[in-house]
Amino acid sequence: MLTLKDPSLLRTRNFIDGEWVAGGAGTIDVTNPANGELVTRTANGDAADATRAVEAAAAAFRTWSRIPAKQRAVLLRDWFNLLMANAEDLGAIMTAEQGKPLYESVGEIAYGASFIEYYAEECKRVMGDTIPTISNDRRLQTYKQPVGVVGCITPWNFPNAMIGRKAGPALAAGCTIVIKPATETPLSALAMCDLADRAGIPRGVISVVAGSNSREIGKVLTQHQNIGKFTFTGSTAVGKKLMEQCSTGVKKISLELGGNAPFIVFDDANIDAAVTDCMGTKFRNCGQTCVCTNRIYVQEGVAEEFTEKLKKAIEALQVGDGFDKNTTTGPLVNQTAVHDMQAFVDDAKSKGGDIVTGGGVHKLGHCFFEPTLVTGVTADMRLANEEIFGPIAAIQTFTSEDEVIERANNTEFGLAAYYFTRDIGRVIRVAERLEYGIVCSNSGVFSTEVAPFGGWKQSGIGSEGGKEGIAEYFETKFHSMGGIE
Ligand code: SIN
Repeated sequence: MLTLKDPSLLRTRNFIDGEWVAGGAGTIDVTNPANGELVTRTANGDAADATRAVEAAAAAFRTWSRIPAKQRAVLLRDWFNLLMANAEDLGAIMTAEQGKPLYESVGEIAYGASFIEYYAEECKRVMGDTIPTISNDRRLQTYKQPVGVVGCITPWNFPNAMIGRKAGPALAAGCTIVIKPATETPLSALAMCDLADRAGIPRGVISVVAGSNSREIGKVLTQHQNIGKFTFTGSTAVGKKLMEQCSTGVKKISLELGGNAPFIVFDDANIDAAVTDCMGTKFRNCGQTCVCTNRIYVQEGVAEEFTEKLKKAIEALQVGDGFDKNTTTGPLVNQTAVHDMQAFVDDAKSKGGDIVTGGGVHKLGHCFFEPTLVTGVTADMRLANEEIFGPIAAIQTFTSEDEVIERANNTEFGLAAYYFTRDIGRVIRVAERLEYGIVCSNSGVFSTEVAPFGGWKQSGIGSEGGKEGIAEYFETKFHSMGGIE
């Protein structure tokens, strides 16, 4: 039973054109992955709902895009304040539908809200250019104009922050947005939207169409003629399909896709710091983030010490219900994910890997998997090649800097990479040579609204956060002014 200070935040209808409406396809069950219990039922939207939302967003765009940035900023700031004031309730809603520990959920609310705050400030500083003219009768200028209606699909692993990271800059730029949250986690999106409405953001500017028919709703959000831009966070496989759909209308697109992050520990590293940060980046959200450490490379001279310390830290994790105050590691999103983890472990075992700790379904059952450490990982194992997206730490060893860089770059992904060394020359060399959108030296923590987050290669297109994040929502118009004597 979910108890909230403000129970009206538990919205169960979709929010389209400023109204709370039933879904064209009935309802969806929202269940708690910690125990499989029903949290509530929400509207199951369909293509007709998505179409209505896009058309309302197109109508709202005509006025929203013309409101001065300073005024939009005031409304966004009010939305930010309401999100922060309701962080406890929003966190509880998230833990109920997603499973992550309550402290992580409340932390995510602040993270998601930080994008709204940042872009409320940033939108007042978006500048076009005055370009030195090429002849005296002409003047040359550029304008930055909002791209239009944004279609957006967000994932279940960050039900709030990925919306903040897209809706913040979109609305600040003068765009309107239609959000399709993950089928598993509609409640966080609906609660955010309720607060946007309370903040006075006009009808049609932000809509949420939750629904289980992602393909049908996704088609509208990528192909409707009124869509100016599409943005997605999720798997590379789905991102490729959505990109293909966007190509028919040549829509502008941003994609934040899968990762396969290396975590490199050199012989000269501060081992205790490396262990602490490896734990943070590997086990955050039960290993279910695109930037989670995936392949741990430890230089031979420190492999034994690092492994021993990491094992101890993993065994200290408290697996449990996210509402339990002692829990550090919640459930996986569903039983399929549990089976996936078991398959990774079985594959490693069959190829000679050592299961140092964990390795099976947790005694709590359901969606819980034991935090696991595997050593002796070799190139032929799935753990060395695929995105794990769960609580398995997989260690490989290496001998030299050149060798580990080559191995770390040997993937089609390029989102985040981590490395630990106390050699300043190596800090710079490795940063320059890793083929990743985000490189993190001597730290496993980097997420912030003020810097760009984006992947290279098949990890995505475009950036979110920082000044780059809002640029994604503008078109540049060149004004060539003639007849000036
Ligand atoms: C993600 O996993 O895609 C988001 C992680 C973050 O923003 O820190």
